[in-house]
Amino acid sequence: MAELTYRCPLQCPYCSNPVDFADQGQELDTGQWLDVFAQARAMGAAQLGLSGGEPLTRPDLIELVSGARELGYYSNLITSGMGLNRDKVRALADAGLDHIQISFQDAEEAGNQLMAGSRKAFQHKLEMARAVKAHDFPMVLNIVIHRHNIDRIGDIIQLCLDLEADYVELATCQYYGWAHLNRQGLMPSRAQLERAEHVVADYRRRLEDAANPCQLIFVVPDYYEERPKPCMNGWGSMFLTITPDGTALPCHSARQLPIDFPNVRDHTIETIWHRSPGFNHFRGDAWMPEPCRSCDEKHEDFGGCRCQAYMLTGDAANADPVCAKSPHHHTIVAAREQAGTPLDQVPPLTYRNERNARLIYRG
Ligand code: FES
Repeated sequence: MAELTYRCPLQCPYCSNPVDFADQGQELDTGQWLDVFAQARAMGAAQLGLSGGEPLTRPDLIELVSGARELGYYSNLITSGMGLNRDKVRALADAGLDHIQISFQDAEEAGNQLMAGSRKAFQHKLEMARAVKAHDFPMVLNIVIHRHNIDRIGDIIQLCLDLEADYVELATCQYYGWAHLNRQGLMPSRAQLERAEHVVADYRRRLEDAANPCQLIFVVPDYYEERPKPCMNGWGSMFLTITPDGTALPCHSARQLPIDFPNVRDHTIETIWHRSPGFNHFRGDAWMPEPCRSCDEKHEDFGGCRCQAYMLTGDAANADPVCAKSPHHHTIVAAREQAGTPLDQVPPLTYRNERNARLIYRG
């Protein structure tokens, strides 16, 4: 995953970027990114995600896509659609991009504006989704689901069907980065979640009856589970993120951990992947304390998410508190109980923008 930039015209309060992104170093230049792509491809990487921030703010995006195509990657642009126009969609297709994923915030303008912080975004996104479809890209729409839009999940699905989506990712909010900061203002209640599950199941049935191949992907947020997710399929097992300044991470959120992660400016991808302490830190199971150490499910979930363990317990080696066996599971139970708190009794959302990131960085 190449996080090309932290710049973004939108301000979604659930962004997974670090809350202090204003403090990050200079972005890698075109040559450095192409070198990273080539090194990773030589090691067998097959899929390349181009993300951000908003990757379309990079003026060299077409060059990067075309370099990825020459190297033989399957490439995916993860975008808000802002900064896209019909000419750029055509240029991206000509450069060999395989896949574009556009995010929406809601099924209607007001909800979209509330989260994105932009008045023009909704109409533009609709137009760009149609342009992407017209260029025969697989139509993948992504909508982050939270307490403000979950009751409109039926309208959201319908909007995606009207746009002839092939895949709809109803991505339940994951509480990292800005979303962790805003958790109280974003987390849906169990009752909201159960209603949404019924609506999704109903749409799935209707799609099947109509032989519509559109796939609805909706996963229950891990805060409502009793066992953790096998985050990243295990630390340093198949996923590598490079941040805009070249820091290499085993997941998008690891930068917050008290671990020294290597930078592609100083080390080859081969050294980073095989020999850096950061990537070896949580490989295997020798690092696991109890209850994971003696758990017979440890090779299925790897103890859950290291970042979530760190955020909720202060120690990244602990079991992910989502697990009912964790002695910190009460933090998850407390968050569930808080989720029904009326909106006028929770702190207002902090929007993801440069100003707030600078304030957070300065403490
Ligand atoms: Fe970092 Fe789960 S997000 S290990």
